[in-house]
Amino acid sequence: MARLARYYREYGIRIVKGSMQYLWDDQGRQYIDCNTNHGVAFLGHTNPYIVEAVRRQLEEVWAVPLNFATPARERFVEAFSKLLPAKFGVIFLQNTGTEAVETAIKIAKKITRRPTIVAFTNSFHGRTMGSLSVTWNEAYRKAFEPLYPHARFGKFNVASEVEKVIGEDTCCAIVEPIQGEGGVNPATPEFLKALREETTRKGALLIFDEVQTGFGRTGAIWAFQKYGVEPDLFTAGKALGGGLPIGVVVAKEEYGDVFEPGEHGSTFAGNAVVMAAAAAASELLLKDDVPARAESMGKELAKALSEHGSRIGLRVKGMGLMQGLELRVKADQFIQPLASMGVLALTAGMNVLRFLPPYMITREDVERIGRAVSAVLRSADIGRGA
Ligand SMILES: Cc1ncc(COP(=O)(O)O)c(C=O)c1O
Repeated sequence: MARLARYYREYGIRIVKGSMQYLWDDQGRQYIDCNTNHGVAFLGHTNPYIVEAVRRQLEEVWAVPLNFATPARERFVEAFSKLLPAKFGVIFLQNTGTEAVETAIKIAKKITRRPTIVAFTNSFHGRTMGSLSVTWNEAYRKAFEPLYPHARFGKFNVASEVEKVIGEDTCCAIVEPIQGEGGVNPATPEFLKALREETTRKGALLIFDEVQTGFGRTGAIWAFQKYGVEPDLFTAGKALGGGLPIGVVVAKEEYGDVFEPGEHGSTFAGNAVVMAAAAAASELLLKDDVPARAESMGKELAKALSEHGSRIGLRVKGMGLMQGLELRVKADQFIQPLASMGVLALTAGMNVLRFLPPYMITREDVERIGRAVSAVLRSADIGRGA
């Protein structure tokens, strides 16, 4: 039998079932899922509202290329449109976050006819060659260089340097409103505002990468709405598919006809089963007031994480249900101990524990997470002779 190539660290846990905020392994152990497949299952695992929509679609049709219309896509466009701020009238369909980033870059290059993409320290935009070129971390990039030669990095959250890094050669600046993989670092309003002003002044497009922050997780449907700064294009993915693979670029109307027929494309984009799931996910977001729940439970989660009572923990940062606990030490050593206590979490950067739970997480769950975090950090305190 062949084996799967390894991409990530493996934890020796075999997941066999999921329901809303919980997963179960093959030993019958239950976990509160704050990993959610890197933020995908924000609407929960096997959410009945999404299951029902997918089940219905499975009996109708699955694979319809974008050359033809099909009801599942029409339902998606209708439902997703209700989540878009005015002026954002065009949706480019893709299958993953990294593809959405690639597509946004292609749009910016074609519109401006300029070469240079500006990104920022600690950014993460994906692992295909274009989006990898604007991803900061050497560990992801080094082995694959040379990458796209016209990428330049400015300093994240240094508003005074924005003017220098965006030039007449710049097609776009791309930024996460809250950096996910890079450490759960919220942008400052001044920084995003400076980016907006400078890209407009230099004729470059501003792209917000909302693949992780988007779709209600931060307490607004899109994180940029919390800042009151609008991009020209933004990306979304992860949670939008209700658990199935999707990536999109959303653009202002004026960029809608950028591609000639056949100039850009994707075999799987707009798959009818994915569209049915994403339409249901979009409806559910409004029906359950997901952003409001993320906002209020996010506050509870941040509080619970801050009460760890350990010398290792430094500070809690994030927005809504995207929270990071910064530590004095490397964070990955705590993922397995947390799992043993029934909490699945992620790392972000070297020293941040990241929590991306589903929106229906309860107070009781949050207390359980807080107790588990406190226990694993305090036992490491003891190990360090505290
Ligand atoms: C901000 C951001 N952009 C892009 C990506 C890439 O998404 P995908 O893994 O779906 O290609 C990620 C994934 O973590 C992300 O967090």
